[in-house]
Amino acid sequence: MKTNAFRIYKNGGPGELKWETVEVPAPGRGEVLLRHTAIGLNLADTYRRTGLYPMPLPNGMGNEAVGVVEAVGPGVRALKVGDRVGYIGGQAFDAYSKRRVAKVASLIPIPKYIDDRAAAASLLKGITAQYLLRDAYKVKRGDTILVHAAAGGVGVIMCQWAKALGATVIGTVSTEEKARFAKRNGCHHPIVVKRKGPKFAKKVRELTNGDGVHCVYDSVGKETWEESMASVRLRGTVISFGSASGKPPLVDIAATGNTGSPFIARCSLVNYTTSRKETMARADDLFAAIKKGHVKVQVKQRYKLKDAPKAHRDIEARRTTGSTVLIP
Ligand SMILES: NC(=O)c1ccc[n+]([C@@H]2O[C@H](COP(=O)([O-])OP(=O)(O)OC[C@H]3O[C@@H](n4cnc5c(N)ncnc54)[C@H](OP(=O)(O)O)[C@@H]3O)[C@@H](O)[C@H]2O)c1
Repeated sequence: MKTNAFRIYKNGGPGELKWETVEVPAPGRGEVLLRHTAIGLNLADTYRRTGLYPMPLPNGMGNEAVGVVEAVGPGVRALKVGDRVGYIGGQAFDAYSKRRVAKVASLIPIPKYIDDRAAAASLLKGITAQYLLRDAYKVKRGDTILVHAAAGGVGVIMCQWAKALGATVIGTVSTEEKARFAKRNGCHHPIVVKRKGPKFAKKVRELTNGDGVHCVYDSVGKETWEESMASVRLRGTVISFGSASGKPPLVDIAATGNTGSPFIARCSLVNYTTSRKETMARADDLFAAIKKGHVKVQVKQRYKLKDAPKAHRDIEARRTTGSTVLIP
């Protein structure tokens, strides 16, 4: 069977994403044929396109999508034709496609109360928010946390969920419009960060009576790291989990003995979804948060799948808020 999918042959700009007609094989043992209904756009897709996160080339693109099972391979009992499922990896990078063959072991059944677009907009970002808030640092009632890119895909889910957990949320954003959006989505104190000069640490100290926050969640990296370290309280936690502005600098660990002895970690989704059991437990926690209304998925941009290069341009230029989906 033929389908349409993006292929990438060399790292570079959005123009390196090539829309092609490709062959889809019949599903093998432990596999199903999926017809995608919605695909999640993640900033990390642009890192893989540019080579910041290396992957073998040529390759497909994307590791988050939702779809319907169209055929099952030999021996597959867990799923049947018509089931709705999603995934956040554990597959070849081929989410930017109309149809694909997928490994059953990495597929997550989608509950009835979450539609396909909301699922594609929240599976990867929401499971990331789940492990960051509930595990990497366990947010408690009364904590104050700092979330960068608070109006972004992961940021909006984190702010809403942390507020529901009883935390006070301080967030950074680049525009007043994003500040208003973040505020409507759980961020108590959005700070609009200027491109030049001091950014947010002074304001964070003011908002916390000089103490600093219990945890900083830093997905921006190069441009925010130094002030993130200056925003954390005594023996607080600083988590790096992204590099939107470039990699954070090397940390002089001995020097942190003179700056409040913070706990520092670089967290990756792969290290918090190490088995089907672990991934499903995190997905179930996310689904429960959505069902209770603690997390309201914000699908703010929709593009036709074949316009994925434009979606890449927009997320890289910081023109998006909330989540973005690609529709086949
Ligand atoms: N480690 C993990 O497990 C994991 C998993 C998923 C995502 N992530 C990370 O989480 C972050 C958010 O991912 P997302 O897909 O939801 O993206 P997103 O937050 O929707 O988009 C990225 C945002 O980062 C901010 N930003 C700051 N400096 C930037 C720069 N120089 N260039 C571009 N953007 C900049 C922008 O918000 P402002 O304009 O408001 O500054 C932009 O909207 C990314 O860094 C991603 O790599 C990590």
